[in-house]
Amino acid sequence: MARDAILPTYQNQIKAALERWLPPSDREPCRLHEAMRYSTLAPGKRIRPVLVYATGEAFGSDLRRLDSSAVAVELIHAYSLIHDDLPAMDDDDLRRGRPTCHRAFDEATAILAGDALQALAFRVIAADRDSAISPARRLRMIEVLADASGSLGMAGGQAIDLAAVGQKISLEQLENMHRHKTGALIRASVELGYLASGADDAAIERKLERYATCIGLAFQVQDDILDVEGSTEVLGKPQGSDEDRDKPTYPNLLGMAEAKATAQRLCDEALACLESLGASGDNLRWIANYIVRRDR
Ligand code: IPE
Ligand code: IPE
Ligand code: MG
Ligand code: MG
Ligand code: MG
Repeated sequence: MARDAILPTYQNQIKAALERWLPPSDREPCRLHEAMRYSTLAPGKRIRPVLVYATGEAFGSDLRRLDSSAVAVELIHAYSLIHDDLPAMDDDDLRRGRPTCHRAFDEATAILAGDALQALAFRVIAADRDSAISPARRLRMIEVLADASGSLGMAGGQAIDLAAVGQKISLEQLENMHRHKTGALIRASVELGYLASGADDAAIERKLERYATCIGLAFQVQDDILDVEGSTEVLGKPQGSDEDRDKPTYPNLLGMAEAKATAQRLCDEALACLESLGASGDNLRWIANYIVRRDR
């Protein structure tokens, strides 16, 4: 696959898979289903599904076998964005270039859409019975996704984020927050792609985990950079939201130049973890570079 075709190819694959798994909007309760579809099918970058597909393909899997994992992580991510934007959290009005879920619908519907997307994520892996993935593997995958989503993963990271508003925190505390709120789900995306592929090599799995830890942290560092340097139009979400809410971020703790140098160092370390994969790791290399060079 030509390297710059990676995103569109995987994005088309996940779009079709999401369409298959999301309840139709003419099914009762229609307004809830409409809200779930509105937020999930909005034009996101789909970087977590992209990681699932690229990792699985690196270990010889076809895309169809990876669909349930890719859908599951994107559903958890979509739910996390709906809740992240709520007035009780970041109180943002724009997401993926559209009004946020609670603005387009109402707060209660947005809360429930998030709840229902989260439940659906676990259902997708559990119900993927026709796939070639063994039941024991699917159980392990559910555990990985639960750990990444819960109080020791993304939800915990969001709690740390909210507690840190207006606080002066150390670099170590900031890194811990980023590892949880964003890193956990990105790590899970790589792990799910690996597990779904059927691969079984503990040494490679450890290298992949380190790769994912580095790009997961780099992803949120770049998100913080774009909150300062990006434009609302390109980002599709309000530029300056972190500063408005007095959030601790990499640029405000380290300065912009050092924040960028940190993102690049993390990218370099991620690339070094892929050496033993040879050419089969090329898509994962492309993604590491994309994460620190993206403008949205
Ligand atoms: C935004 O995630 C929230 C973070 C975890 C930084 P993305 O930048 O992946 O958002 P979409 O999915 O492309 O909208
Ligand atoms: C959100 O981090 C992380 C999750 C949704 C879990 P941010 O609050 O920085 O994300 P954006 O900038 O609103 O997308
Ligand atoms: Mg937030
Ligand atoms: Mg936010
Ligand atoms: Mg942000």
